Amino acid sequence: MKDPSLRRSVTLFRAFLREQQEPERCYSLLARDAADQVEAYGGRVADRVVVDVGGGGGYFTQEFRRRGAQAFLFEPDLAELGAAGQKPPDGAVVADGYLLPLGDGVADVAFSSNVLEHVCDPQTFLSELVRVTRPGGLIYVSFTNWLSPWGGHEWAPWHYLGADRARLRYEKRTGRPAKHTLGENLFAHHVGHTLRQVRARDDVRVVAARSRYWPFLAGAVTKVPGVREFATWNLLLILRRYP
Ligand SMILES: C[S@@+](CC[C@H](N)C(=O)[O-])C[C@H]1O[C@@H](n2cnc3c(N)ncnc32)[C@H](O)[C@@H]1O
Repeated sequence: MKDPSLRRSVTLFRAFLREQQEPERCYSLLARDAADQVEAYGGRVADRVVVDVGGGGGYFTQEFRRRGAQAFLFEPDLAELGAAGQKPPDGAVVADGYLLPLGDGVADVAFSSNVLEHVCDPQTFLSELVRVTRPGGLIYVSFTNWLSPWGGHEWAPWHYLGADRARLRYEKRTGRPAKHTLGENLFAHHVGHTLRQVRARDDVRVVAARSRYWPFLAGAVTKVPGVREFATWNLLLILRRYP
């Protein structure tokens, strides 16, 4: 895939900065962008089966459907399904990504955006995505790694000084309980370790490993040990089910 434009990155970043005020706009934009990425690697999704695992309120599922896919949302958290008061997509299934209620190889595309950092055992989670993908099918996984400037989520960038301190600081400053607690619903996953684990698997081929949002050097940045932990921001893995 060609490196995307600077304009695209700036637009996404601006939308992200206003995520709290305009969630609909932010997630619709992100969903269109992610669907473009899927199509850039896997071809058009029209008439394909796409499973969106940990899809939250369903913006991505809706976008895949708009493009003609048979897309299905699997989300374990009822609160996320109805987030921002929106109606979840028809047929949304309350299910955990570790144990999907799907047969082997039913999906042309298994899609998971920003979920991996919220699961304790990413390799088992990934295995389940691989299991439900047909041989030759595509697996799209992206996540914010721990040492990313956004690794601490709502308490970033103070996570660099320690998760507990950052969390307490957030709660004191906002007067609200933090959504995430390290080791409970947010986990410190790293780019290098994840790449080594994925490359060691014999059930997938790595088609691309790149920064999801960077406009340039998106692939190169993930190749430099150390630097990649800070500079990648969000690791996008495009995998092909093998054999
Ligand atoms: C940051 S949200 C991402 C939502 C959406 N995919 C996106 O990119 O905007 C993380 C989502 O992962 C879900 N999640 C956490 N643990 C999960 C698991 N074991 N299986 C599937 N989804 C999970 C959460 O419920 C939440 O909806």
